[in-house]
Amino acid sequence: MNAGRFAGQLALVTGGASGIGAEVMRQLEAGGAEAIAADIKIPSNRIRQVDVRDRASVTALIAGLPRAPDILITCAGGALRRKALEVDEEMLNESLQLNLGGFWRCTQEAAKRAISENKPMAVVHVASSLHRGPAPELSHFSAAKGASVSMMRCLAQELAPHRIRVNAVIPGPIETPATTPIWDNRPGYRDTLRAAVPLARIGTPTDVVPAILWLASQEAGWVTGSLLTVDGGLDVAP
Ligand SMILES: NC(=O)c1ccc[n+]([C@@H]2O[C@H](COP(=O)([O-])OP(=O)(O)OC[C@H]3O[C@@H](n4cnc5c(N)ncnc54)[C@H](O)[C@@H]3O)[C@@H](O)[C@H]2O)c1
Repeated sequence: MNAGRFAGQLALVTGGASGIGAEVMRQLEAGGAEAIAADIKIPSNRIRQVDVRDRASVTALIAGLPRAPDILITCAGGALRRKALEVDEEMLNESLQLNLGGFWRCTQEAAKRAISENKPMAVVHVASSLHRGPAPELSHFSAAKGASVSMMRCLAQELAPHRIRVNAVIPGPIETPATTPIWDNRPGYRDTLRAAVPLARIGTPTDVVPAILWLASQEAGWVTGSLLTVDGGLDVAP
């Protein structure tokens, strides 16, 4: 990592308290960024509280930044598992508000501020390899992530004239505090995953974060509306 790669840049990372977002924070700081983590959980006083499902909360977060962020990484997301026929209105709405709405709201508010300050910005959304489905017990999550990818492409188109780039990374299965307890509770599940992934292992946050940071960096200055898949080859599994 080039120590000065993000020097002088302000970065906001939603979901920055845990998992992929926490690793994004570490690597942004290693690259010299002034990185601010925002999360619904605040395990340390370095993290700002936000609920990305709530407009007022997101508006206050963006207004409280010292200036428009140069970089926005939207990692906040997740879902409980439930069989498709048992998902109710509330659960579908919750998943849409978090996994689609969180990205949409944060990008809208940050983009409005960047435009008002006449600054460029790079947004990287963390979607999921489940965005196209099928995803057993995660239909609500898969649909919300799928919609977030469509939203990313629309925002990329409309925001390009403002020098705002919007891209997404598509991680495959990554060992994080969100997945570890679930996989621990399913004997043999990790072996099933490893067998399904052509590169024959489960990913770690350090596998996916360099792709996120490349999209956020000046090196990707001519890239917008793109999906970058980091899944050990799952998408091309035989
Ligand atoms: N781990 C995987 O296998 C995997 C695979 C594909 C995509 N993803 C996506 O990557 C992102 C990060 O996942 P992770 O595995 O690091 O999970 P994680 O649970 O470790 O981190 C997610 C963070 O988001 C925060 N969050 C949840 N709801 C929030 C809200 N309403 N407002 C603000 N913050 C909120 C959580 O508190 C948590 O700190 C998620 O969007 C997830 O869907 C993960």
